[in-house]
Amino acid sequence: MPLHILDHPLAAHIVTHLRDKTTKPATFRTLTYQISRLLAIEATAELDTAAREIATPLERMTGRVLAPTSFVVVPILRAGLGMVQPFTDIFPDVSVGYVGLERDHTTAVARSYYCKLPPPAGRHVFVVDPMLATGGSAVQALAVVKENGAVDPTLVCIVSAPEGVAEVEKHHPGTVIHTAALDRELNAKKYILPGLGDFGDRLYGT
Ligand code: PRP
Ligand code: URA
Repeated sequence: MPLHILDHPLAAHIVTHLRDKTTKPATFRTLTYQISRLLAIEATAELDTAAREIATPLERMTGRVLAPTSFVVVPILRAGLGMVQPFTDIFPDVSVGYVGLERDHTTAVARSYYCKLPPPAGRHVFVVDPMLATGGSAVQALAVVKENGAVDPTLVCIVSAPEGVAEVEKHHPGTVIHTAALDRELNAKKYILPGLGDFGDRLYGT
């Protein structure tokens, strides 16, 4: 299965502090930036590069630079917004689209309330959302970006539940998922265990 779990001591350190319920929103936002930056680097490992002739202070050589085609990052609002800046900081030519989805507190079914996507124009799409719980939001978002022309979009999450991974695989087989942690299970209210609670609430202090 194309599931990539970030295996790095710094990732484990950051996720543990994100999980800690005493972590306040300001620190939570910084940690979100840091883990998303690691994930952004990991998830883009397959980006195309092109040869570039340069001269070092000592001799000429052929190096490699990113190919001119940029890519698209699509956060699932609202919590996914916290994962965008690392992508735009590292990759200056990235475009950003938005998909707004909100889970109903009783049914945990996601409702769509916003969508603004750039034309894909052959560019790879990365859908970013910190939490993959039932998978309902990710499945909807992946469907929306595919309807808009994205081919084989990648999903990037911070904490995932096995149920969500299975749901994405069921509806979008072969989707590459990058996550910083794969947790145990969902509870009766469809929250991830051990998880970190409601990501959006902790990110924005609501
Ligand atoms: C959270 C999270 C995901 C979704 C995951 O968003 O950011 O989008 O839940 O759950 P699922 O896999 O069961 O769909 P939420 O709906 O709470 O909205 P928010 O980002 O506005 O807080
Ligand atoms: N959304 C969250 O923010 N947290 C969960 O545990 C599940 C869905």
